[in-house]
Amino acid sequence: MAASSRMGLSVYLAIMAAVLASALGAELTADYYSETCPQALTTIKLLVGAAILREPRMGASLVRLHFHDCFVNGCDGSILLDDTDDMVGEKTAKPNNNSVRGYDVIDTIKSAVNTICLGNVVSCADILAVAARDSIVALGGTSYDVLLGRRDATTASMDDANNDIPTPFMDLPALQDSFESHGLSLHDLVVLSGGHTLGYSRCLFFRGRLYNETGTLDPAYAGSLDERCPLTGDDDALSALDDTPTTVDADYYQGLMQGRALLHSDQQLYQAGGAAGDLVEYYAENPTKFWEDFGAAMLKLGSLSPLTADEGEVRENCRVVNQV
Ligand code: HEM
Ligand SMILES: *[C@@H]1O[C@H](CO)[C@@H](O)[C@H](O)[C@H]1NC(C)=O
Ligand SMILES: *[C@@H]1O[C@H](CO)[C@@H](O)[C@H](O)[C@H]1NC(C)=O
Repeated sequence: MAASSRMGLSVYLAIMAAVLASALGAELTADYYSETCPQALTTIKLLVGAAILREPRMGASLVRLHFHDCFVNGCDGSILLDDTDDMVGEKTAKPNNNSVRGYDVIDTIKSAVNTICLGNVVSCADILAVAARDSIVALGGTSYDVLLGRRDATTASMDDANNDIPTPFMDLPALQDSFESHGLSLHDLVVLSGGHTLGYSRCLFFRGRLYNETGTLDPAYAGSLDERCPLTGDDDALSALDDTPTTVDADYYQGLMQGRALLHSDQQLYQAGGAAGDLVEYYAENPTKFWEDFGAAMLKLGSLSPLTADEGEVRENCRVVNQV
């Protein structure tokens, strides 16, 4: 009697442990593909490097692609899905339309890893995470181990993309709310905004800052922007987000302290003062800390609500859901 109830208890405990583990979800791991596709990571790195050689801006674009994927229902590759008759996806949402780029680089990488892995093994969501890291490293950032094992969504939502991605017109409190709603702190906001050490913005996103915020704008900088971004027209004219748009460095933070932020949202981090302003000063003065903390914050970004185990699928083609 005593023995059988002890047996009952251990079976019960084993079942409870299994239930708990599945409720917690499978964890992402750095060596997820080490058995199923050991060449996956080197293949992605090679192709990211080639894309950046062809066009240095592509590194920035790949970093942003991962961010916009992760902020909309987690890092699940949803941003890569093309619209269908039944679904309006994220590509034409306001923050993404005519703005997010790099889709064809991801297609090239996906078909290369499908070949190298002798099948459809590596998820699109993982490719986005690895391509972002490889871009950062290729452009002078510090490396970090990307965690893997994300699976791909079978659906995407334009409305969610419109609601969940912060806009450059936001003040600090709204930016902070947006990051907090994704489980990210003010510190994460300041560090991840350092992603703007890379890449460009179109005139339509910084026109207001140029003509309506002259109080916080460095006059020499404003002068150089005027020509490229007139009061009307030239919406798509590009300006760099910091002085060195193809190098991962702390120039972005130094720029904020000099009134040289291109976007209103970036200038807010310094202008609003307080803890955010202190962090801007800290990273402006400690580039080495920025390199370290940026990698750690990217890992956190990349861990937002992944699909794991039997959730979602591994898409054969990143643009379309698998046919059943
Ligand atoms: C904090 C809130 C953020 C806002 C409001 C914001 C807004 C923007 C805007 C308006 C652009 C220009 C888009 C265009 O002109 O079409 C841009 C570009 C970019 N953003 Fe952000 N962003 C934010 C956070 C981030 C984060 C967290 C990252 C990555 C860690 C990031 C990475 C980039 C990169 C790399 C570019 C340049 C892309 C390219 O040149 O193709 N941004 N962002
Ligand atoms: C996206 O951009 C295209 C091309 O500029 C435009 O025709 C289309 O209306 C835009 N879509 C949305 C939903 O705004
Ligand atoms: C500047 O601000 C005014 C008043 O809020 C607004 O009407 C105008 O559209 C803004 N101009 C730009 C270029 O954003």
